[in-house]
Amino acid sequence: MSTTSANGLAIELHGLTKEFGNITAVNDLSVRVERGGVIGLLGPNGAGKSTTIRMLLGLIAPTHGSGHVLGHDVRSPSAYMQRVGALVEAPVFYPKLSGRDNLRTLAVLAGVDNERIDEVLEIVDLTGRDTDRAGDYSLGMKQRLAIAASLLKDPELVLLDEPTNGLDPAGIVEIRELLIRLGHSGKTIIVSSHLLAEIQAACDRLIIINRGSLVFEGPTHELLDQARNELVIVPEYRSDLSKLAALLDEKGINFAANGVGLRAPGATAESAPVNRLAFEHGVTLRELRADVEDLEDVFLRLTDTREIN
Ligand SMILES: Nc1ncnc2c1ncn2[C@@H]1O[C@H](COP(=O)(O)OP(=O)(O)OP(=O)(O)O)[C@@H](O)[C@H]1O
Ligand SMILES: [Mg+2]
Repeated sequence: MSTTSANGLAIELHGLTKEFGNITAVNDLSVRVERGGVIGLLGPNGAGKSTTIRMLLGLIAPTHGSGHVLGHDVRSPSAYMQRVGALVEAPVFYPKLSGRDNLRTLAVLAGVDNERIDEVLEIVDLTGRDTDRAGDYSLGMKQRLAIAASLLKDPELVLLDEPTNGLDPAGIVEIRELLIRLGHSGKTIIVSSHLLAEIQAACDRLIIINRGSLVFEGPTHELLDQARNELVIVPEYRSDLSKLAALLDEKGINFAANGVGLRAPGATAESAPVNRLAFEHGVTLRELRADVEDLEDVFLRLTDTREIN
């Protein structure tokens, strides 16, 4: 029986599930990730991001379902580990050694030469600071050194678990720019975060999970297609609701009634005509407003960490 799937996908998951006792950390996750570009793995704390990444790296085995990385079964990680780089925990370096010497110790283990150390230092923009002690690096520089370490083997796939966690805004921008550069290099970069805003600008695609389950998968710009965009119309008197509904019907505007008012999806540009129409028919409006979600609102609603009414 072959454990290799013949397609060219970076990652393919079918019903991937991980249970820890009675906690289902990852629940029936199915996604296909094409090679190349930056893919954001998003979800609030405890959503199952790290558990997913640890399964992809073969550090823990799935309870049910299957996962393939670069065509190989996650249950046989040795078949693909040489081709995958990762940042999974807060990076640990020898603080008294320089950034370069820290990479040198790792390069020996990874079996790569000194020339590659120069290359990865260049990629993460640490050339010039490479001989400074790693212990004196800012948090952002430490994260970039950790990413440099993950790139030593020139991997096709790079898994970065929350590389922006704990960074100040300038550090986040540095990591985001680095992700964009890496995405252009032909590698597949999977980067997790619990904050959409921190990585969204760098991501070509998003995988959003909540309580272990998939809630969105697709191009980043398609997330905005899920944004609520409604005109909220509330008459002063409830008795005018049916009249108002008839007027909207006549005008060909779709709406849903909720007892106190109407909500018309996609009709936010119609507020002035609706206002005029209501006035002309003797209906006074108590409320006429656009209820429009931005990307962050959609993310928060999908992961229900904030109530939106
Ligand atoms: N080794 C473990 N034993 C028991 N439960 C675990 C273990 N690892 C993770 N969990 C649980 O699985 C769920 C998912 O955890 P996970 O660390 O994957 O989430 P996460 O999305 O990475 O969260 P965070 O943003 O906080 O890093 C949580 O409820 C967590 O408590
Ligand atoms: Mg985590």
